[in-house]
Amino acid sequence: MSEQTKYLLGEDRIPTHWVNLMPDLPGEPLPPLSPATMEPAGPPDLAPIFPMALIGQEVSADPEIEIPDEVREIYSLWRPTPLFRARRLERALDTPAHIYYKYEGVSPAGSHKPNSAVPQAYYNREAGIRKLVTETGAGQWGSSLALACKLFGLECEVFMVGVSYDQKPYRRAMIETWDATVHRSPSDLTEAGRSQASHPSGSLGIAISEAVEIAAGADDTNYSLGSVLNHVCLHQTVIGQECLEQLELAGEYPDVVIGCVGGGSNFAGVAFPFLRRKLREGGDTRFIGVEPAACPTLTKGEYRYDYGDTVGMTPLMPMYTLGHDFVPPELHSGGLRYHGDSPLVSALVKAGAVEAQAVAQTSAFAAAVQFAGVEGILPAPEPAHAIRAAISEAEAAREAGEKRVILFNLCGHGHFDMSAYDAYHRGELTDLEFSEADMEAALASLPETPSIA
Ligand SMILES: Cc1ncc(COP(=O)(O)O)c(C=O)c1O
Repeated sequence: MSEQTKYLLGEDRIPTHWVNLMPDLPGEPLPPLSPATMEPAGPPDLAPIFPMALIGQEVSADPEIEIPDEVREIYSLWRPTPLFRARRLERALDTPAHIYYKYEGVSPAGSHKPNSAVPQAYYNREAGIRKLVTETGAGQWGSSLALACKLFGLECEVFMVGVSYDQKPYRRAMIETWDATVHRSPSDLTEAGRSQASHPSGSLGIAISEAVEIAAGADDTNYSLGSVLNHVCLHQTVIGQECLEQLELAGEYPDVVIGCVGGGSNFAGVAFPFLRRKLREGGDTRFIGVEPAACPTLTKGEYRYDYGDTVGMTPLMPMYTLGHDFVPPELHSGGLRYHGDSPLVSALVKAGAVEAQAVAQTSAFAAAVQFAGVEGILPAPEPAHAIRAAISEAEAAREAGEKRVILFNLCGHGHFDMSAYDAYHRGELTDLEFSEADMEAALASLPETPSIA
């Protein structure tokens, strides 16, 4: 057996720093706006719900930020994660492309999400906070924060998007195993939830409003967000840093880096260390963010200021958005069902440094089944979108007769998503309609904000 499949690093190679792309971003960074004044939001606007250490990371211009030892020690439960060369997929596609995937499904929660949940719980405990409240779409973030809170002795309360709560009872049980409380969102526990009772399927935007409302109302309780914000993207850069080293072991450098995009954190995690190199030194590497056609924020949204939640309690962020009260259809990729996107990823798309693609959910599941049939791992529906794009790149390489090095982030396994696979196998999974009319109505109801286009 001469061909290597897995590229593994020892625990001494767990990154010591996170990569902050902010100082390398093209153009001036745009500040978030306070929802009360529409003026730039400063640390005092964020302090009621976030600890100062995370607010500092949110606005930091330092190119690197040290990872605390206690966080690295917990990372060692699953990091460094393996990088695989998908040789069997390459053979099945008969492509000269070399396909690599980073596998984040080996974490205890089964995805990349604990990479940020652990430092967020750590900094909150350091600040004397007793309890964290959050939202979860696919259940991956809720279970990751439940685990992190358990490890740091914090209480945890999770508002789970209604449709995922119904589809994924075992995710709920997992969250409860780590001692957190789970509510179906919209709930009647908050004003925000009660105001959205006419959308029983829920959305990430609604669940965020509920969690922020609880956190803002108690001094010993903070809010924690699983994606979108700069500090969450920052924490995920352990993924790309390990990939850089693992690809060096393989003697390769990627021509294309691919990640699915919900709020943007796993894409940021795999891409930012490579993007920084390109922004500083040049090169031809392409970067592709892949989103669902039913919730096409980057490909059909408007680049402007919008709230991060449905009710309008969070600061407004400069991002691609479908409008904060747009409620996406009941997609099986619950983690990609968000109206907005990370301001960092949005700015990179706007600047042309990152390409965006939209993929229909049946096409994503077909790619996931094809991948599982040769590589074995059963992907979560979210990274199935990245797999579809990676397969398309490999097929394009075959048509062009060129070797192309493709890297994608397999950011989670699908072991709690079997009802979606079941629907796919029965032919019951459909491609949901994105409502341009609903988006236009949602965008039309936004307040006047400074133009950023
Ligand atoms: C497995 C998985 N992948 C991707 C995502 C999307 O989030 P992000 O874009 O922040 O990586 C989620 C979110 O819940 C997820 O659970």
